[in-house]
Amino acid sequence: MGFGLTNIKIIIAEDYDQMSAKAAHIMADEISLRPDGVFGFATGGTPVGMYKELIRMRQAGEVSFAKVTAFNLDEYYPIEKANDQSYDYFMKDNLFNHVDIDHSRLNIPNGECSDPVAECISYEAKIAAAGGIDLQLIGIGLNGHIGFNEPADHFTNATNHIELTESTIRANRRFFVHEKDVPRHALTMGIRTIMSAQKILLIANGEKKSGILEQVLFGDITPKVPASVLQLHHNVTIVIDKPAGAKIAARI
Ligand code: F6R
Repeated sequence: MGFGLTNIKIIIAEDYDQMSAKAAHIMADEISLRPDGVFGFATGGTPVGMYKELIRMRQAGEVSFAKVTAFNLDEYYPIEKANDQSYDYFMKDNLFNHVDIDHSRLNIPNGECSDPVAECISYEAKIAAAGGIDLQLIGIGLNGHIGFNEPADHFTNATNHIELTESTIRANRRFFVHEKDVPRHALTMGIRTIMSAQKILLIANGEKKSGILEQVLFGDITPKVPASVLQLHHNVTIVIDKPAGAKIAARI
């Protein structure tokens, strides 16, 4: 069984909008405490509302990203930054182009690089040179993946170059015009990279995430459920909506 929840703070919001606002405020508060801090970002459907709220807060003068350094969790490989399916494009479109962040301090694994192994080593070194990540935002996959760290026999270590599973490649097919353009690989922070962050903020919404959240929080710590390793982190905040919390609300 897991370790109990003393190191994990769980906030169950009424709905997606409240979840997004709460998570945005947690990140903005952290930025106010550390204006020149190092913040980790995620892509996917879940953070879109949170990023909208951060943009609103920026426009209202409630937060400034001017001195923030950003590191994203992952990127497809190979992919051109200009491709609207790249995570580089997603982050600029959903957040970075709409706030006062210094684009020279944006870091996303480079899907255009010629040597993915060297890119991963260099990405990990950049995180270390920045002093490590103060607050890492993550989402969670239905199978418990975080970043592109899929269920496996071992927890991954540093930023690494992974082969996507056939099912993920098939699922991604619909987003690309030509079959040949569907990325077969990805670059992702490893589990150790994520676990090295001082604080982790996990967001999830929808009933479909309720089962995996129960396993992550109350199940065994196992690389078969990568996010279960969060039970061993010293400072995790989980912000979810009511449907995502359906299976854990009675146990916390
Ligand atoms: C995104 C990422 C993924 C997603 C996860 C959940 O950068 O690394 O692990 O956080 O797949 O995705 P959504 O939010 O679309 O449910």
